[in-house]
Amino acid sequence: MLEKINEIAQLFTNDIGNARGMQTLEEIRVKYLGRKGLVAELMSKLPSLEKEKKPAAGRELNTLKARIQKELEARQRTLLSGASLTREEIDVTMPGIKPPEGRLHPITQTLNEINGIFVSLGFKIAEGPEIEKEFYNFEALNIPLEHPSRDAFDTFYIKKDTLLRSHTSTVQVRIMEKTKPPIQAIMPGRVYRPDAVDATHSFMFHQVEGLMVDRDIKFSDLKGILNIFTKQMFGEKTEARFRPSFFPFTEPSAEVDISCIMCRGKGCRVCSHTGWLEILGAGTVNPRVFEAVGYSPRKYKGLAFGMGVERIAMLKYGIDDIRLFFENDIRFLKQF
Ligand code: PHE
Repeated sequence: MLEKINEIAQLFTNDIGNARGMQTLEEIRVKYLGRKGLVAELMSKLPSLEKEKKPAAGRELNTLKARIQKELEARQRTLLSGASLTREEIDVTMPGIKPPEGRLHPITQTLNEINGIFVSLGFKIAEGPEIEKEFYNFEALNIPLEHPSRDAFDTFYIKKDTLLRSHTSTVQVRIMEKTKPPIQAIMPGRVYRPDAVDATHSFMFHQVEGLMVDRDIKFSDLKGILNIFTKQMFGEKTEARFRPSFFPFTEPSAEVDISCIMCRGKGCRVCSHTGWLEILGAGTVNPRVFEAVGYSPRKYKGLAFGMGVERIAMLKYGIDDIRLFFENDIRFLKQF
């Protein structure tokens, strides 16, 4: 009897190993567990066994029956999950779906480029707060009370003495307060002005400020540095022009224009037919600023400049509306 049971167990192992479909599985079930199946046949022979052999044979037979049941069910489950795979038509060999790729905002890219040029010329990068005291935005920079930029309509005041900085020149003062010359630093950051928003104005934009202070800094150093900057930023063919101007914190002051990168100086709509585009303000540091931070104006000279990052990005990439930078339109941003 035990031999017979082993034989059937062996037979079942072969059958189930070869079963490839639900149909065969059912046939196997009937063959072994059916009413007239192999297991039932042996069961029917149990009563005729010798008394002392009955218990062992019965036990073995039950174990075999349980094993066959379990393996049939397990096989059925694997076949079913395989069947659902074909139904849903998942092809595991197909290439995956690539998630959309992010990139740096064009203003960040332009800022990085500007910073990179000045760092290669030996400048350090410094930052200051966007919420400022009047002293840093105005007094220390020799901007008198009657100056129009001090009007409540021209600056975002938070409290009487506290405002959102309207330029990054504030950081010049903060650096000089904290350190002794020589200083060679650029100061990138956000600035705020309550301008009505249009194609060329935004209430928030970015500037990069520059400052060099040492015993013998000259206006020609300023020209040399800004000439290198404009050529690296806009191309070797670009010319820079220094036009006399006025800022309370530099004396003498200049506004720097570059030859129009659209028409190469011939005159077009972008440069209002002048051939030149204004890109920054600059000058040698006014001795009054040195006095405000406790430097001796007789001992030290300095140069400073400040540029608008949005303006530079617009010129470089031919963008005609500043609002595009802040609308988060992926179709625009994707192009950079
Ligand atoms: N702070 C000036 C502005 O915002 C720019 C500037 C900086 C001019 C440094 C001269 C020197 O317009």
